[in-house]
Amino acid sequence: MNFGGEELKVIVTGGAGFIGSHIVDLLIQKNYEVIVIDSLIHGKAENVNSKAKFYRMDICNNELKYLFEEEKPDFVIHEAAQMSVPKSIENPINDAKVNIIGSLNILEACKQSNVKKIIYPASAAIFGEPEYLPIDENHKLNMLSQYGVSKHTVEHYLQVYRNLYGIEYTSLRCSNVYGPRQDSSGEGGVIAIFCEKMLEGKKPIVFGNGNQIRDFVYVEDVAMASIMAMESNINDIFNVCTGIKTSINDLIYMINTVLQKDISPVYRDWRDGDIKQSWMSNKKIMDTLKWSPKYTILEGIRKTLNTPKMV
Ligand SMILES: NC(=O)c1ccc[n+]([C@@H]2O[C@H](COP(=O)([O-])OP(=O)(O)OC[C@H]3O[C@@H](n4cnc5c(N)ncnc54)[C@H](O)[C@@H]3O)[C@@H](O)[C@H]2O)c1
Repeated sequence: MNFGGEELKVIVTGGAGFIGSHIVDLLIQKNYEVIVIDSLIHGKAENVNSKAKFYRMDICNNELKYLFEEEKPDFVIHEAAQMSVPKSIENPINDAKVNIIGSLNILEACKQSNVKKIIYPASAAIFGEPEYLPIDENHKLNMLSQYGVSKHTVEHYLQVYRNLYGIEYTSLRCSNVYGPRQDSSGEGGVIAIFCEKMLEGKKPIVFGNGNQIRDFVYVEDVAMASIMAMESNINDIFNVCTGIKTSINDLIYMINTVLQKDISPVYRDWRDGDIKQSWMSNKKIMDTLKWSPKYTILEGIRKTLNTPKMV
């Protein structure tokens, strides 16, 4: 992206991870100069686009401000995070260290190097058990994990750094993101886990009856929303989702359809605290930023299955 003859520079933290690496790819397609900061604690070096400059660094590192001073980014898209809900419950101090202190370290560096705008991915985890559906941006917050608290806390800091220092921001509250490069180990995304199992002809495990509803949004749509938010002069909080209800049983049906298989799942007991129904409204981002999801879930699953890691 060229602005008055100069290429605009974007720092993407967590750019070796799942969502961050797709944002980097799209920024490069759009001719931005891209700098990736990632500790590789969860991401992979091979996810980083070869046209991006890569720094292996922890976002909590005190030296971060020097990197910002040297690179002088115009924008920051801050994806790096401890993103596991169970890990946040097991080790809330580490969760807060990475997600709150690490984000503050990024904001301080932004302040010192005059960054114009920061884009931040919050999460549907901040809403807890929905009181009404679809969940809109005004829905009451009811965090059920330390991860929900740490993700939401940063939204307050974003507002403070705008009020005090004029750093523009947008927070994107993403529903369940899925697509290529998502981690299928541990408690990664359900689509990544099911795709990997079913490709091997194995039965996916479903907790409960499979009728629980979620809102799955394809990662390239999230990347597009992040860049549109960055390019806009609006400071706000938006849901990023499809608003479409998909059950876990629907997912299995669609993966079977794409793979031309007929694998039935193994049903296990409900897990404590599992939310039965959650989907979100995307009306605000569609009306304000003119963003809309491009991929249907079937197309997204097809693209997820048709990747080198999967085939
Ligand atoms: N995946 C989803 O469904 C989803 C939904 C809502 C919000 N989010 C948010 O989106 C962001 C990206 O999530 P993701 O799914 O791509 O996760 P991911 O784990 O694939 O990516 C996060 C990246 O951050 C890096 N990282 C972690 N701690 C770091 C540290 N201290 N210093 C530097 N780098 C560090 C990891 O190595 C990894 O590459 C996170 O902020 C997450 O909270 C994700």
